[in-house]
This record gives sequence, structure tokens and C-alpha cells, in this order.
Amino acid sequence: MSIMKEILERRSVRQYLDKDVTDEQVMEILEAGRLSLSGSNTQPWRFMVIRDKAKKEPIVRADHEQEWMMQAPVFIACLADMKSRLDEYPIPEDTTETGGSNVIKLVIRDTAIAVSFMVLQAQHMGLNTCWTGWYDQKAMREALGISDEYYVSAILTVGYGAESPEQRPRHSMEEILLQYDSEA
Ligand SMILES: Cc1cc2nc3c(=O)[nH]c(=O)nc-3n(C[C@H](O)[C@H](O)[C@H](O)COP(=O)(O)O)c2cc1C
Repeated sequence: MSIMKEILERRSVRQYLDKDVTDEQVMEILEAGRLSLSGSNTQPWRFMVIRDKAKKEPIVRADHEQEWMMQAPVFIACLADMKSRLDEYPIPEDTTETGGSNVIKLVIRDTAIAVSFMVLQAQHMGLNTCWTGWYDQKAMREALGISDEYYVSAILTVGYGAESPEQRPRHSMEEILLQYDSEA
């Protein structure tokens, strides 16, 4: 078993077929997120599944009016719950990404891992995704109807792709590998 196929073939997809995704498929994607890893096993991720066109519209408005998103049958709002670390940190006053609070950094970090697992699971199932994050936190919280105890890590579009983009450029191994101690 290898997951390199999914890693190699995954692309951010911004055009979708008019073909629905079943609840069973959505639940399987969410399960990959549920089983993800997190610092001290705090599991700060929370999810909202949005299919309704009227509910998607304000989300797209908040997400820099990225109209292509409306083609995707399912949005998964991926939230980081700051309350999951209440034993260590109070909810900060500034709950935006520029607030600089440790709790925000930690819950964003852990939720991003879960989103990555979900993206790869969707790919494995023959579905396509695009992680979107081009929004102001306050505006997106309002669009989703959630409190500022949640940080919106991603609005993930999910559906059957109607485009097959080429692989986007990546840094070479030489550029990213700062140290490599070979086996003796
Ligand atoms: C945190 C994050 C936010 C992103 N936000 C957007 C977005 O708002 N709109 C969009 O079209 N793509 C968005 N992307 C997708 C990136 O542009 C894409 O991953 C990158 O260009 C590499 O392309 P690839 O995913 O096809 O390999 C986002 C990706 C990440 C990880």
C-alpha cells in the first residue's frame, strides 16, 4: 500500500462536474480528519458540511468572491476550536491570525494536519478538493454563524473535478533539505 499516488496526483481543483457527492463519501472524508494527529491529542478540529446553495453564497462572498466555488457540491468548513486548550490558555482577546496568541497557533497547526488527511482521503476516493482560505476571519465566522472561539482554518471544496491541472511547481529537494545525515 502506498499513498504516494494520491500525493502525486492531488491538485487544487477549481472546476467541478454537476455530480453529487454522497453522505457516505463525505463521512469517509471526515473520518480521515477525525483520526488525524495533534499535539497532546487535543483534536481541536471541528467540521461543518454545507450543501445548501443559499448557505454557500455568503461563504463565497466572504471567501473573496471566488465564484468557481459554487460549482462544488460540498463545502467542508474546517474549524479550530480554541476551547480545546482551555486548560492551558484562556480564549485570547484578539482571535484573528494576527493576534499572536499561542492557542491560535496550536489549534491552527493541528487542524491543518486534519485537513491534509481529508484532502488525501478525498483524492483516494476519486474526488477532488481545493483548500480555500482567502478570507477575513471575522467575515467568515459571520458567514458560517459561529463564534470567535473558532478559527476557520479552511473552507474545503469537494466534488468531482472538471479539470486536470498540471502539477504545480515545487521547490527542489536541494532547496528544502537543509541537512541530511546519510546512513553509515
Ligand atoms: C492555506 C491554503 C489556502 C489556500 N487558499 C486558496 C484560495 O483561497 N483559493 C484558491 O483557489 N486556492 C487556494 N489554495 C490552494 C493553493 O493555491 C494551492 O495549493 C497551491 O497553488 C499549489 O497548487 P496545488 O494544490 O494544485 O498543488 C490554498 C491552499 C492552502 C494550503
